[in-house]
Amino acid sequence: MSDAIDLAALPHDFLWGTATSAYQIEGAVAEDGRSPSIWDTFSHTPGKIDGDDNGDIACDHYHRWREDIGLMGQLGLNAYRLSVAWPRVLPGGDGTPNPKGLAFYDELIDALLAAGITPSVTLYHWDLPQILQDRGGWPERDTAEHFAAYAALVAARLGDRVTHWTTLNEPLCSAWIGHLEGKMAPGLTDLTAAVRTSYHLLLGHGLATQAIRAAVPHAEIGIVNNLSTVYAATESPADQAAARRHDGHVNRWWLDPVHGRGFPADMREVYGVELPEKPGDLETIAAPLDWLGLNYYMPATVADDPRGPAPYTREVRRLGVPRTHMDWEIDSGAIETLLLRLTDEYGARRLYVTENGSAYPDVVRPDGTVDDPERQAYLVSHLAACASAARKGAPLAGYFAWSLLDNFEWAYGYDKRFGLVHVDYRTQTRRIKGSGHRYADIVRAHRERGGREAA
Ligand code: IFM
Repeated sequence: MSDAIDLAALPHDFLWGTATSAYQIEGAVAEDGRSPSIWDTFSHTPGKIDGDDNGDIACDHYHRWREDIGLMGQLGLNAYRLSVAWPRVLPGGDGTPNPKGLAFYDELIDALLAAGITPSVTLYHWDLPQILQDRGGWPERDTAEHFAAYAALVAARLGDRVTHWTTLNEPLCSAWIGHLEGKMAPGLTDLTAAVRTSYHLLLGHGLATQAIRAAVPHAEIGIVNNLSTVYAATESPADQAAARRHDGHVNRWWLDPVHGRGFPADMREVYGVELPEKPGDLETIAAPLDWLGLNYYMPATVADDPRGPAPYTREVRRLGVPRTHMDWEIDSGAIETLLLRLTDEYGARRLYVTENGSAYPDVVRPDGTVDDPERQAYLVSHLAACASAARKGAPLAGYFAWSLLDNFEWAYGYDKRFGLVHVDYRTQTRRIKGSGHRYADIVRAHRERGGREAA
């Protein structure tokens, strides 16, 4: 099936990786000086998470990371995207670093490099120290400044070995899902707080970019957005306008400012919230980047919904289309569209697919294997679409499958499994699934056949 993928379109030094995030896999939430994050608080609030699950233990990666690096080695991967837990390295949110927290990432990075795996470090994958939330969180400007100080600390500590940096993962989720829809930490439903959060996240991104550049001379810095292709539910002018608004909400609001275009005027009008802008902020937000990261899962089909929350659109369920266990529509063509849009409309010079994957209800068979043909089909079809985008000129330099391991899937708890490796949460046994073996075959085939020379 990997023949369906035009591997020759991908550069020979392509990064083949998997991605994870700290709160979803580490566990050890009260160990070695880590302080609570907003996700500890949220997940321990009854009714917020399916099954009232939490990340207290998760995949116990904090203790089992050596085994997990071994799994990456078995899959033949040359890259790994991880996130640093802010409350582990700076339990007070700012101020005094936690030596044990920093030592954990130090060792992890050393072991990855020793295994020939390039680490790609994300600084913020949603786990704001609770202590900073108590002081107002992302709606407050101070949080952006604390984030930059935290970035400077981590960059100074790991920057002698890590060149590949991400400031924010999916700021859309922090702002819109966490502060407007209330389905993620900190669980607010307040448009003003959400818009202020979006602004301060991007400001924090710009400040952190400056801080990393100052600490790491050869840093390669990017931001990771989860983007969607947006379709109008009908041809009606109202639905067409809704699709444009939705595109502004999930795509342009996040891309335009970092490309020096400011916050989209149409969306400022839709939100009707004054931005907490100070002179020079837009320049900071538009600090030059080395690459853009695309997290892609599914498209969105929307209709006008004047009574709904901003942006006054409603997702419409298309009938008769295949879906994953998340109930997310499968549309591999959309990843190609998005990669080409980043190339053509935003002039991207280097792109990574920093997450892509699918959840299915896996079953461990009596012989210990986990067969997941649907996830394999998802993987192959999306990789084929990525290669097709590369063939058409998208400067795609790597792909990180979400996820290495089954893990804590936020509000969905442990029921939704995205891993290429199955985790038995009772025993913490790891088992490479069929999709993991398939991915390893694809990586090997690319290596053996050789990709094209990098541009
Ligand atoms: O698990 C998440 C990840 O933390 C961010 N991107 C989407 C994944 C699947 O929902």
